[in-house]
Formats: sequence, C-alpha cells, structure tokens
Amino acid sequence: MRVYRINQHWKSLDRYEVMKLKSNSPTRKPEEPDIYRLYTLPISVKTDPITKSKPFLKWAGGKRALIPEIKKEIPNEYNRYFEPFLGGGALFFSHLPLSACLSDINSELIICYQQVKENPQDVIELLRSMEYEKEQYYTIRASTPSDPIEQAARLIYLNHCCWNGLWRVNSQGQFNVPFGKYNKPYKYLKEDIILNASVALNSANAELIHGDFSTITEMINENDFVYFDPPYTVKHSNNSFISYDETRFSWNDQVRLADLAQKLRIDGVHIIISNADIQEIRELYKGFNIRPVKRMSLISGLSKGRGRVNELIISTRDNGYKS
Ligand SMILES: C[S@@+](CC[C@H](N)C(=O)[O-])C[C@H]1O[C@@H](n2cnc3c(N)ncnc32)[C@H](O)[C@@H]1O
Repeated sequence: MRVYRINQHWKSLDRYEVMKLKSNSPTRKPEEPDIYRLYTLPISVKTDPITKSKPFLKWAGGKRALIPEIKKEIPNEYNRYFEPFLGGGALFFSHLPLSACLSDINSELIICYQQVKENPQDVIELLRSMEYEKEQYYTIRASTPSDPIEQAARLIYLNHCCWNGLWRVNSQGQFNVPFGKYNKPYKYLKEDIILNASVALNSANAELIHGDFSTITEMINENDFVYFDPPYTVKHSNNSFISYDETRFSWNDQVRLADLAQKLRIDGVHIIISNADIQEIRELYKGFNIRPVKRMSLISGLSKGRGRVNELIISTRDNGYKS
C-alpha cells in the first residue's frame, strides 16, 4: 500500500476536490466519520479547514518555528505517519499526512485530542463559558472534571491562559503553572483553529494513543515515517529542563529512544528526530544524517529566558550531513 503526498496540490484545489481526492485514498476506512457534519453547525469556518490547519495548543517545546527545516527531511513517499511525542503536533498539522498514529505520555493531552477530533463543537461550547480572568483560571485549574469533553476544554483553556503554554504538574500529577499575564483583551479561544484541527485529525484517520514512545513500536512497519520530538535532556543533569509530565525524560530515556531509532532505521523506517545540539546526542545517532539548525525559543533551559537555541535535525534522508 502506497500513499503519495498531495499536499502541494491541495493549495490549488478547493475543499471538496481535496476531500474527493482523499476519499479515494487506499488508507480510507469505510467507517470513517463524515467530516462535513462539522460544517452543519452555526460556527463560522473562515478558512480552508485542511490546508489551513495548525496546532490548537501553544505547547512548550512546540516546533512550528522549525517546520521549514524539518520538512526538507520528509520522505517523498511513505505509508503511515507516526508522531509519538505529540505535544502541540506542529508537524502533523503542517504536513497533513493521509494516515496517522499520534501518541504522547500525557494522558490528558490525548483525551483532549480525542475530543477535538470527535466532539469539537461541544468542546468549543464549553470554552465559550470560560474567560481569561485570574480568579476563574485558578478555579478551573483546581477542578478535576471526569467528563472527557470538560477535561478537553479545561486543558485547552489552561494551556492558553497559563504562563507560556507550559504543561507542568506536581508530584501528585496536578497541573501547577501560574496564570499567564497577556495584554487584555486576550482572545484565547480560536474556534476556527479547533474546527480545522478536528477536520485534519479526521481526515488523517488519526489513531490517538496514550503511552510512552515505545508503546507504538510494534505498530511501525518498513516504509512508515516517524517523527520523534522528545524533551531535550542535558546528560549531566539527568533531567529534562522542562517537566512536561509527571515523569521526566531522563538521559536513560534519550538512550532508549536512540536505540529504538537505530533499530527502526535498520528496518527501513523513515525517521526524523529533533534534539538539542550537544555532543552526547550526536554520538547517539551515528549512521543518521545530522544537520545543525537554529531556532528562536520562548523557554530556553540552556540560558535563562529567551533566545536562539542550537538544535539538530537528525534523519534517515541523505542530506549531505552524514555523521
Ligand atoms: C517537545 S514536546 C513535543 C512538541 C511537539 N512536537 C510540538 O510541535 O508541539 C515533547 C512531548 O513529549 C511528551 N513526552 C515526554 N516524555 C515522553 C515519553 N517517555 N514518551 C512519549 N511522550 C513523552 C511530552 O508530554 C510532550 O508533549
């Protein structure tokens, strides 16, 4: 089974032509939900829902600024797309694969994606009742809803109204990032972005899985394409500088990830990894093509504050930078 990228053509096609093309794709499942139902609701969608899709979360460590560089490494042809460190999913929403498996260790994040995919209108409806206001922020932060739609709305609200989009939890797994100060009026709710994201997730038939990156190993086959974007770890600290979840990404995890990537490379899987430009990381990926790039970062753990960070794009594609 082969899936050819048609992204370049999408720009010149209207939404219905894109859908027609995609419905002929061999990856389409007959039971796929009809994504047109999203447009029967009285919520205006101003833009082409597929080609204009972008992350609905402003995730710390998100790679939107690096997308043009990462895209240079994407294989021309592949079967299924995997993104096991999903976060805000910058590459998924920009590249728009035809068939995707998206996963993350953050269970609340995966619930949120599931609800945005399946019940975007209900999530938006709840978000409309949540205001960017300090007292309300702390009330919502302290709440522990059991309904998945409420959980999804809570995560989107907290992510946009907290300090710098950081997702950090305490030892009990409770979100503890303070209120973020943005210029008022701050319109955090972007309905079109959530709806477009929902269309993109349905259109890719996205399978959403909660778990460690190794969980999906058995699902990956030759000629699939995997983008790994792990938290960046400094070897000597044995800790990620940003705690994305209750479990930190240790140096052992970096080694475990590199071992998996090496195995998949030998098995004929297309791989791209983004990581910090440090010698220890370069040594883990011998045999890959390693290209240094610079990116603007809002949260830099290397220097306190903001600035340019040196990163690596590590890939199986021959780009003339073989290590
Ligand atoms: C750098 S962020 C990914 C950012 C994403 N590429 C984007 O553009 O928004 C890293 C993500 O890895 C997840 N993560 C941390 N440890 C993990 C693990 N062991 N397995 C899978 N995901 C993990 C975090 O929850 C976080 O969402």
